[in-house]
Amino acid sequence: MTINVQIIKKQLIAENIVHLTLASSDGSALPEYAAGSHIDLHIDSDTIRQYSLVPSDNASHYEIAILKEQNGRGGSLKVHEHLKTGDRITISKPRNNFPLEVAEHSLLIAGGIGITPILAMAEELDSKQASFELHYCSRSKNNAAFYERILQSSYDKQSHCYFDDLGPSFNSSVLEQPTEDKRIFVCGPEGFINFIRETASNMGWPKDRVHFELFQKSENDDTGHGATFRIKIADTEQIIEVAEDETALEALERCGVEVSCSCEQGVCGTCVVEVVEGIPDHQDMYLTDKEKQENRKFTPCCSRSLSPQLTIRI
Ligand code: FES
Repeated sequence: MTINVQIIKKQLIAENIVHLTLASSDGSALPEYAAGSHIDLHIDSDTIRQYSLVPSDNASHYEIAILKEQNGRGGSLKVHEHLKTGDRITISKPRNNFPLEVAEHSLLIAGGIGITPILAMAEELDSKQASFELHYCSRSKNNAAFYERILQSSYDKQSHCYFDDLGPSFNSSVLEQPTEDKRIFVCGPEGFINFIRETASNMGWPKDRVHFELFQKSENDDTGHGATFRIKIADTEQIIEVAEDETALEALERCGVEVSCSCEQGVCGTCVVEVVEGIPDHQDMYLTDKEKQENRKFTPCCSRSLSPQLTIRI
């Protein structure tokens, strides 16, 4: 289900970062959401991107912040250069793939624009008077969205900001001493998330206590292309050949089989379908390790097949 909204404010809040305030076009209330949620923004007829919701003082508004990525896939450039205050666009209802689990103590870690869901978590934990610390790494103060908001917040004393051009830099000793009642929540570029996850793992953090969200796979990641395989649709027995240079999703679409999709990068989970038979070659960042081992789910936007044929149910 989609929601029609209007951009009621567009504002540059840091270098290359715009902040959009959205309200429903007909004035009705927008669905509630929890910290860590994101929406799909339908930027134009063929561009959908996911952005985390930033807490808003006005319950009838959604707020998002978008980094202009010169070398990205083009969605953020369209937002920066073409969308303007007053435009009417479509969004999805909020979804939460990065839920906040309140623990005895939480380490919230953000790299760059990854601050958006982390800020929502900080404000929720603060409102619940839960114990947490915020670590925010950015290239410079000019690049740090919401820096002033953090400085002026009631949790500024437990917030630590690190700027590449000023130092000191983030010290991974903050990840020391994992205990059962601590959790890590990290969001940012893929390399940053991987660094935190690897460092935490080396320091003895179990994987299930390190929560992360990635919005975009790196340029070097697999694009969903590779060896050919067949997809069989369980209910209709239709057989579809997936060529080397197309994704399973493209092959399904080519043959008239509709699958919902959004990020087309294996990070949002919109396209997940059930596996009835066969072994997927999981390329996504959405399914958990356990789900990947079980081989019962498949993300056709980027994953392929280890078996010659994969039978799926849509
Ligand atoms: Fe987002 Fe496939 S469309 S995971």
